Amino acid sequence: MRISVIGCGYLGAVHAACMAKLGHEVVGVDVDENKIKDLSAGHAPFFEPGLENLLKEVQATGRLSFTTDMAAVQGSSVHFVCVGTPQKKGENAADLTYVDAAVHALMPHLSSGDLVVGKSTVPVGTAARLTSIVHRACANAHLVWNPEFLREGHAVADTLQPDRFVYGVADGSEDNPAVKELDKVYEIPLSEGTPRLVTDLPTAELVKTAANSFLATKISFINAMAELCDAAGADVSLLADAIGMDDRIGRKFLNAGVGFGGGCLPKDIRAFMARAGELGADQALTFLREVDAINMRRRTRVVELTRDLCDGSLLGRRITVLGAAFKPQSDDVRDSPALSIAAQLQLQGAVVTVSDPEALENAARRFPELHYEKSTEVALDRADAILLLTEWPEYRDLDPYETANLVVDRKILDGRNVLDAKKWRAAGWTFRGLGRP
Ligand code: UDX
Repeated sequence: MRISVIGCGYLGAVHAACMAKLGHEVVGVDVDENKIKDLSAGHAPFFEPGLENLLKEVQATGRLSFTTDMAAVQGSSVHFVCVGTPQKKGENAADLTYVDAAVHALMPHLSSGDLVVGKSTVPVGTAARLTSIVHRACANAHLVWNPEFLREGHAVADTLQPDRFVYGVADGSEDNPAVKELDKVYEIPLSEGTPRLVTDLPTAELVKTAANSFLATKISFINAMAELCDAAGADVSLLADAIGMDDRIGRKFLNAGVGFGGGCLPKDIRAFMARAGELGADQALTFLREVDAINMRRRTRVVELTRDLCDGSLLGRRITVLGAAFKPQSDDVRDSPALSIAAQLQLQGAVVTVSDPEALENAARRFPELHYEKSTEVALDRADAILLLTEWPEYRDLDPYETANLVVDRKILDGRNVLDAKKWRAAGWTFRGLGRP
């Protein structure tokens, strides 16, 4: 099939490459010339394991191209809308500027029978509004909402072998012609057994925000338990292991630590609350305010613990922060707890050095006032205290004896609860975890 993908960021670039891998002829469109230049040369403009190899592989087949010219979508029968929906400045609501601009730019190039497939995360009700725009441009075109659930760091596998497909169509019916068309796009994963659900438009939009809200709630739940464990002298990691053995609860997403960040969970729960308010259902999501508050409290807690670790004062203390990305296997620093903690420590007088294997360029763009060092060894040199805030494998594998030779003071705070406290204490370290005695 001939497919266009509009928006070539974390979502769109991966989606375009994966659709070409599935055998389709794909054109990716973005307004950012640098991004298009990179992608056309087979370079991923961000760190995502497996993406660069995939780009090179599918570009060699001639099935994947990138352009800034929207007219190139002509001839494609399926158009995926993959642009970002960031948080509005100074408000909780989602900013739909990019979605609206992409859809309006696409309209003059639409042909009869075309599918416009929304993948961006949008407030419920957006798809119905966009449907009328699509129908005004071309009465026989269809709009489908097909939310994306990919995780950064696993984006290629999550796109090629997703847990499920959700197709939101106007009448919510299996017989909607758009369903058959989208089935052709995903023929390979469907034939491999990926389940698919056909829903109406608002349900499809809600599936995505509900899933992210559930994940955020699970993380904040265990972080609330960590607060309680701290107060009671209990161990949150063992608590999570024990409750996670109940199938109904499950152990995944029960890792207590500095909390969730990234380009999705924080802004999606806020946009969800804002939308619920507009719909007069704000009470239903009041709990998400608490989920957000518990999450943000983690960052303050780490700053307080670091001050304790430094005998009550951060002034002039050399602190090494290991990790800048919001999670490992990503160079994304949007709403990263690690960076936000590093910035707060620096503001309170500490001399902070931040290290990360992939995210330093993005971090320096966001917080130019912080000092960055790529080499872990150099970053640890003469540190008064170490904070492990993003659990990259190289930080999990640090040897407490070798590390002791680099620092001034053997003080470490494990903000992700991934280090073996006994081992570090045996090597003479003052060790602090979050929710661990
Ligand atoms: C998330 C959803 O998982 C994905 O389905 C959706 O499409 C986009 O948002 P992503 O932002 O890539 O994906 O990251 P995810 O792996 O979900 O992690 C989110 C944050 O939660 C990270 O900061 C991570 O460190 C944190 N986290 C995760 C925890 O603090 N504890 C956990 O147990 C799990």
